[in-house]
Amino acid sequence: MKTYFVTGGAGFIGSNFIIYMLNKHKDIKIINVDKLTYAGNLENLKEVENDPRYTFVQADIADKAAIEKIFSENGIDYVVNFAAESHVDRSISDPEIFVKTNVEGTVNMLQCAKNAWMTGDDQYKSGVKYLQVSTDEVYGSLGETGYFTETTPLDPHSPYSSSKAAADMFVKAFGDTYKLPVNITRCSNNYGPYQFPEKLIPLIMNNTLSHKDLPVYGDGMQVRDWLYVEDHCKAIDMVIDSGRPGEVYNVGGHNEKPNIFIVKSIINYIRENVDSEVGEHLIKHVTDRKGHDRRYGIDPEKIKRELGWFPETCFEEGIKKTLKWYLENPDWMNNIVNGDYMKYYEKMYSAKKEI
Ligand code: NAD
Ligand code: DAU
Repeated sequence: MKTYFVTGGAGFIGSNFIIYMLNKHKDIKIINVDKLTYAGNLENLKEVENDPRYTFVQADIADKAAIEKIFSENGIDYVVNFAAESHVDRSISDPEIFVKTNVEGTVNMLQCAKNAWMTGDDQYKSGVKYLQVSTDEVYGSLGETGYFTETTPLDPHSPYSSSKAAADMFVKAFGDTYKLPVNITRCSNNYGPYQFPEKLIPLIMNNTLSHKDLPVYGDGMQVRDWLYVEDHCKAIDMVIDSGRPGEVYNVGGHNEKPNIFIVKSIINYIRENVDSEVGEHLIKHVTDRKGHDRRYGIDPEKIKRELGWFPETCFEEGIKKTLKWYLENPDWMNNIVNGDYMKYYEKMYSAKKEI
């Protein structure tokens, strides 16, 4: 029976990961520690909340006493650190909390894991591992060709990606200095159920359904490499199980698409399946994001070669599954939209100008 200490499990990827793991492995326990910021939503975990293998604790990953208590009261085998402030636009307007959670929180998690697991100088309880869920954004921006490999120099541009890169450096330092068994995964853009509507796909879906403007930053030709969230969860499971300690693994599925293609695909799906009145007239090109990275593209060869990982869901299938999920779960979205989210959205977009 292995015990996983999952942080940020009430967010988008963390909740998908918990559900994926409890469905896949009979003999595991998961402790989900989440601060429940605006992005944390326990509704995401309804289907597992009564599972005896699952426990929820509300706490901040930067809170030393709270995190030490979880280690001391549970025989933790693995840490999977998802908890983060994750939205680039928010990091541009409010960078400090990104340092607090993404950098200081990660260092606190590392320090508590080291102290709990250390059995002697450079010796640790057998089989333990700390996995840091990082992002392709730490590598910066690509030109029209080429891909990020694990040896691409880090060149973050936004306060968000800089905080994730700083956290990665601390994870590396704990591996190099204290020999803590660590892995880092750097994944491309995820999409799927339970993604907070500040992010491109659910935002465009939501606005299209209510005939609102669809804000496309700049020319909309920025490229992201989209991966269905379950394929990311599978990669993390494999890296925990058999990733070589100290190694970084890039995760991505060569599904590179310009933003405008994503926006038009969503409009077409809704026009064909829900509402014949929506169309491209809703698109509004608006002020670009400051420091906007032009293109991300992951080379996933290492995780494929070493661990046998491959993405199972192609974009065409994944986007249909995702949009269908949002349409079949309107209450999930309505609960968020009827809360503080709209205030954030209105403030954010009133500051943008049509171009
Ligand atoms: P999210 O914003 O949906 O969820 C973040 C979760 O962390 C929320 O539940 C929030 O309540 C929790 N949290 C925030 N601050 C906390 C703190 N101080 N202590 C405890 N919990 C806290 O984010 P996501 O999109 O699910 O991303 C999860 C992780 O994956 C992040 O580390 C992100 O950098 C990384 N990542 C995301 C993507 C993507 O496309 N979404 C891609 C690659 C990597
Ligand atoms: O690449 C992985 C990263 O993907 C993760 O590390 C981040 O946590 C996650 O938020 C995501 O970052 P992006 O900035 O790429 O995602 P976002 O959904 O915010 O934006 C996707 C693209 O769409 C980006 O080029 C900006 C653009 N965009 C976004 C919004 C919200 C628009 O054109 N209009 C919008 O309204």
